[in-house]
Amino acid sequence: MARKIVLTSGKGGVGKTTVCANLGINLAKLGFRVVLFDVDIGLNNLDVVMNIEDRIIFDITDVIMGRCRPRQALVQDKNISSLYVLPSSHAYNKINILGEHIKNVIDILDSSFDYILIDCPAGVDDGFRRAVLPANEAIVVVTPHLSSIRDADKVIGLLNDYNIDYKGLVINRVRGDLLLNGEMMTVENIVRALNLPLLGVIPEDDAIGASNSLGLRVQSIESARAFTLLSENIHNGSKKIFDCTYKYRGLVGYIKRNIKKHV
Ligand SMILES: Nc1ncnc2c1ncn2[C@@H]1O[C@H](COP(=O)(O)OP(=O)(O)OP(=O)(O)O)[C@@H](O)[C@H]1O
Ligand SMILES: [Mg+2]
Repeated sequence: MARKIVLTSGKGGVGKTTVCANLGINLAKLGFRVVLFDVDIGLNNLDVVMNIEDRIIFDITDVIMGRCRPRQALVQDKNISSLYVLPSSHAYNKINILGEHIKNVIDILDSSFDYILIDCPAGVDDGFRRAVLPANEAIVVVTPHLSSIRDADKVIGLLNDYNIDYKGLVINRVRGDLLLNGEMMTVENIVRALNLPLLGVIPEDDAIGASNSLGLRVQSIESARAFTLLSENIHNGSKKIFDCTYKYRGLVGYIKRNIKKHV
């Protein structure tokens, strides 16, 4: 049976799709069979991030309309053979797609995979329900900003209405320089505010922004390490959290921090 994990946030643009893709890549590299299921219907971009856009033959609408079987819609990753994407529909026809439909598809794939990661759309309306209903675990993704944390708090409350056995937190886009300068909300304060187990901290990484839009998989050594730790924490329950401040410590770090402040 697969672990069915939804990545959600309430607020848009905080990094759900980025975390979903990188978590999936790392779990697949560990040898697990992984499906990344894009449930952001109409506003899909997991296919772009995973660079599979030009290889999509069927999408979730085709599966639900019975035009193909779930396995036929899966797009295998070019580099990692145990990693697949189930693409969302490009057309904005989500009215017809319910959480129950998504759950039926996941039930069919369940026995063939170890992880099904569900990329949830922003918001807390029908799209949220559609993505959360089939899951039994949730990763709440936040950035260190008040609006993101406030929305995450709402989402955590809403998750109680679903069949979610485990909830964990990922804090994305953390800047070590700002943390050391006391200009960003600390990881400890965010964890205390949301009261969820911390699964990972991902640093702000310019390479992620640039490569996501081009469908490339370029990232800094730091964010690559942070995603590796996150996948290990999820897989084996370890609690290793990436320290975003380490390269800004000491004399050299102090200089880097101040250079960054002035560029
Ligand atoms: N750690 C990071 N460092 C730098 N840029 C990042 C990071 N994480 C995400 N981004 C960038 O932030 C933008 C939003 O990321 P992403 O699409 O993953 O968010 P999302 O929560 O899925 O958005 P939506 O709610 O629209 O689905 C993208 O341009 C992405 O490249
Ligand atoms: Mg997204």
